[in-house]
Order: sequence, then C-alpha cells, then structure tokens
Amino acid sequence: MILSKFVDELPIPPILKPRWKDQFYTYYEVNMTEFSQSLHSQLNNSTVWGYENGYPGPTIEVESGEKVFIKWINNLPDKHLFPIDYTVHGAHWDVPDVRTVVHVHGACVEWESDGYPEAWFTKGFKQVGPYFRKQIYRYDNCNHACTLWYHDHTIGITRLNIYAGLAGFYLIRENRERSLNLPSGKYEIPLMIQDKTFNEDGSLYYPKQPEKPIPELETSIIPEFIGDTILVNGKVWPYLEVEPRKYRFRLLNASNTRFYRIKLDSGQFMYQIATDGGLLEYPIGIREIMLAPAERADVIIDFTNLEGKNIIMTNDAPAPFPGGDKPDPLTVGQVMQFRVTLPLSSVDTSTIPAYMVPVPKIKEQSVTRIRYLTLNDNMDQYGREWMLLDNKPWDAPISENPKLGTTEIWYLINVTDDSHPIHLHLIDFQILDRRNFDVDKFNKEKVIEYTGPAMPPEPQERGWKDTVRANPKQVTRIIMEFGPFTGLYIWHCHILEHEDYEMMRPYIVIR
Ligand code: C2O
Ligand code: CU
Repeated sequence: MILSKFVDELPIPPILKPRWKDQFYTYYEVNMTEFSQSLHSQLNNSTVWGYENGYPGPTIEVESGEKVFIKWINNLPDKHLFPIDYTVHGAHWDVPDVRTVVHVHGACVEWESDGYPEAWFTKGFKQVGPYFRKQIYRYDNCNHACTLWYHDHTIGITRLNIYAGLAGFYLIRENRERSLNLPSGKYEIPLMIQDKTFNEDGSLYYPKQPEKPIPELETSIIPEFIGDTILVNGKVWPYLEVEPRKYRFRLLNASNTRFYRIKLDSGQFMYQIATDGGLLEYPIGIREIMLAPAERADVIIDFTNLEGKNIIMTNDAPAPFPGGDKPDPLTVGQVMQFRVTLPLSSVDTSTIPAYMVPVPKIKEQSVTRIRYLTLNDNMDQYGREWMLLDNKPWDAPISENPKLGTTEIWYLINVTDDSHPIHLHLIDFQILDRRNFDVDKFNKEKVIEYTGPAMPPEPQERGWKDTVRANPKQVTRIIMEFGPFTGLYIWHCHILEHEDYEMMRPYIVIR
C-alpha cells in the first residue's frame, strides 16, 4: 500500500514530567500500554504499543550527573501484536509472550538498571526473568550532553517490541553545551526515523517466516525486516513547517534493519555537531550522512534565505546494507519534508560554533588487552540464517571480561556479506580504523591478511560512539576504557532481527 507523502505534520513527542524532583534526585514513572494512534491521515488508526500512551514515547530530559530513578511499568495486554517465534533463544514456550525490559541506549548506568535482556518482567511484575534485580532503575547520567534513546530489550522479542512502538528519546543536557548557543527550544527537534509496513486495515504488518521451515510451527525470525513506508516520530512521511533560520535536529535511526544515507534535495550542507556520545570537537559540513540502526547524529540545518522553499530529506542507502536494492526514489527514498513557510519570529542569534568541546583521543599505548572477535553468518538446524558474534551463541560462557578502568582494542572481524552496527552497552568508544582483509584465508587458516591500507573513520564518526558499522570483509577496530561500573553488560548487533537470533553476547566488567 502506497500512502501519500507530506500530508501529516511531524509530531514532536512531549517532554516527560517527573513525579518527584528535588535537589537530590528525580523520579519518573513510565507506563507501557497498548492503544490506537493515527500514523497517517489516510489510514485507519493503528494499534501500537508505547510508553505513556505515546509512540514514540515522551522525551526524557535530564542534566549530566543528575540522579534519576525510573519505574518502568508493564501494563500491556497478554497477547502480542506480532507473531512470536518460539524457536528463538529466550522466547520458548516456557515464558509468557508479552515481556518487557527497558534499556537506555548509550547510558552510563549500573548493570542492574541497564535492561539486561534476561531481566524482563510482565504486567505487575508477576513474572520476571532470571536476571531481574529491581523494579526501579537508577541512572547516574555520568555522560556528557548527548542524544540517547530508550527502547525495549527483551530477549528473543526485541524486534517485535520495538516495532510495536516501544522507543523514545532520552536527552542529556549540560551547561557546557548551553554556553555554545546552538539552536534550542522550539528550534531543536528530535527525529526518530523508522520503516514499517501496513496491512490494508491500517494495522502494522510483521512477516511470518514465508516458507515454514519447521513443520507444524509458525516462526517469524527473518534475516532482516525491510519496511515499505518511512515514518518520522511515528508519522508516515511527515512535513515540518520551519522558519528561515537555523535548526538543530537530533537524528536517530530506530529502524529494525534499514540503514539510511540522508541528504537534502536542495543539495545544501548539514552541519553535524554530535555523534552517538555527544558533541564533536568542531562542526563538520556534510552533504550526506550514514545512519545504521541505533546510530545518532545531531545536525544543524540552516533555512535562512530559503523562504517559500520545500526541502525533502532523502535516503539512498540500499536495504539490506550494503548489498540490497537501492530504495525507490518515489517511496522509501524519501524521509520527510521541510517547508520554509513560517515567518521569522525573531532574529536568529544562534550560532554554528567554530569549536565545541575537546574530544581527547584514547591512547593506544594505554591498551592492556586486544580481543579478536568475528562476526559470523551460520545456519541453524532448520536451515535458517543464524548470525553469531565470535561464533558463539548467547548462552555460551562469558568470554569478554575486561577489568574496570582498563583500556582495550576490539578487532571486529566481519566475515559476512552484511554491514553490522555493533553496539556495546555501558561505554563509549572511539573508532581507530577499518581495513579490508582476505576472508577466505581467514576462514581457512584463522590469520588476518590485510588486502588494503587502514582507513581512518569518516569525519562524521570522529567523536564518541556507542554503535559502529562493521562493514563486510573488513576488520573494524575500536578502542575503549571500561567503567565506571562493574557488572554484567552486553554487546550486540543492532539489526534487531540479528540481535534476536542471536548476534548478541554478554560481557562482564570485573574488578
Ligand atoms: Cu539500543 Cu543493546 O541497545
Ligand atoms: Cu547484524
């Protein structure tokens, strides 16, 4: 079904109000519910899941260093919106269908509050997973100002829960950033980009496995989900009316599998000011920006002198990435539209600063441990694709066990044909380089033979990252210091169909 573009206005999620706030701490409650919401004016309302009756959920705004407690409450019905695959790890018949656990992506947080995939809970906390520790999560917000997001992370059904609508923004603010005089207030807008597919009746479509590989069983795990419709902040191909001035947009790719290569059809520059983990050293002018699932980029777009113009944000990234089909320029090749139709309400005094914050390079000399980790493409007993990290399933004994306060380099050795956005919980890392290598030789002899020079990260990646594109037939090297917490965390591919089956591994920070 092809829906008209640019007929609905871009929604902006409301800011969540705390239940309690004093000088010591802040307390929020967030309910997860099922409700119906209009995702496009030509469609019947769709049944979705959301936080605080909204999809996307309300934006949570905190200060760097603020002590925040959040009670995430599951008030969802017992029946799932989408087909569960009971053959997938952690989603077998012995657990209830509707389970939730919330992860703040990119948060510096104690492990008991990190949303471990097996720390799930059901309505009223009646049943909980084996790693469930507490009802009220604690966030110390030891990050600098940055764009984070919260989303579901339940083992084996993360792809279905996020697709149902369980995602929202979590912004960390800081005076250091305020002093830069970036566009702010109503000129600072978060954009959550997702792809979905609709049934004729307006309900959301998620595929079942097309050829049933297991007799008598319905399964739904697929190697990738590619939707035919693009939504921003929960609206199909929306438009936004803007003033002829500078705006700050916080771009987030919250899609299951789809990558985006974002451009403006006016050909104009965007000024990227931040990566996943916060501000860059200085803004960079770019004409296109790559976003894999879970990656964020903050950009300033200047609409000055463009009165009366319509500008379309486009996407030309193949799906799946990089080997898939180019997007149809008339449909999924478009994301949203800006209309420079509002009068300038006051003089634009905001700036694109020449310099923002120091981003000191982590020193390679400080490294105490190097890990070589493969990204593998296997087959399960039913002949389905089964992607693994380090060739190990989720349940294999923990092998990544960095010591608190130490620095490591991880070699992400991608022997598959896909680009995988690899995400580590707890920490931010820096990308050292990417390098082509001989995959056949590696598969046979387990030695890395490089076939090209080391390539530095792209300018848009030269800041703090928590998710990195590990491209096919390349070794991607990242460097990070583990801390400030010890405990049980995870690292995984953020293609949700991969992380559910089962490109996800625990790791532990030890003392
Ligand atoms: Cu965005 Cu492990 O998560
Ligand atoms: Cu992957």
